[in-house]
Amino acid sequence: PLQAFIFDLDGVITESAEYHYLAWKALGEDLNIPFTREFNEELKGVSRMDSLEKILVLGGRQNDFTQEQKNSLAEKKNDHYCTLIQNITPADILPGIEPLLAEIRAQGLKLGLASVSKNAFTVMTSLGLKDEFDVIVDAATIAKGKPDPEIFLTAARLLGVEASACIGVEDAAAGVDSIKGAGMFAVGVGSAESLAKADLIYPNTSLLSYAEIVEKYQQA
Ligand code: G6P
Ligand code: MG
Repeated sequence: PLQAFIFDLDGVITESAEYHYLAWKALGEDLNIPFTREFNEELKGVSRMDSLEKILVLGGRQNDFTQEQKNSLAEKKNDHYCTLIQNITPADILPGIEPLLAEIRAQGLKLGLASVSKNAFTVMTSLGLKDEFDVIVDAATIAKGKPDPEIFLTAARLLGVEASACIGVEDAAAGVDSIKGAGMFAVGVGSAESLAKADLIYPNTSLLSYAEIVEKYQQA
């Protein structure tokens, strides 16, 4: 039986995925590597250094920088991102998320967060959600980021539940791969093309339906 929901943060609980996009896009422009929203789909859910590497490869510039220079490029992106998230408040929780969290709680299920962002605690605190979750697994807890299943498996282990008793919610292709690799039921939020491997897809969070998700989980 279903025991827990494990949520991604950026792009699922709040619109911070847009801020990651804007900050990477600005860095890309500095480096003469412009990129599209379509390319950005490949960055979603991917760690900071892995994202930088993908951008440099896109521009054919992966050999142009020392490790030290790459670190400062990543730091520059993060400084920009941190400025963008400064004014996040509980009003920035995406539509449909609070009623879904309330329903999960009312049903006595557990709640986990699985985000590879080093800023996850800051964002969760600004949203006023940090204490709503039974466990928060972030970059500090894991060795391998998404699409590796480690982060969702770690969340399930810390919640004390089997992977098969969990539903994962993600907006990123790398995140859906991580959920499926962990052996969980995957709910995708976003475009059907990028999230094709999810078990159930909603175009946006306002359409998330607890009853429908659980029904599909039980049928799977
Ligand atoms: C999340 C976001 C990614 C971001 C990653 C690392 O997975 O979806 O876009 O690159 O976290 O975030 P950080 O805040 O550590 O740079
Ligand atoms: Mg995300």
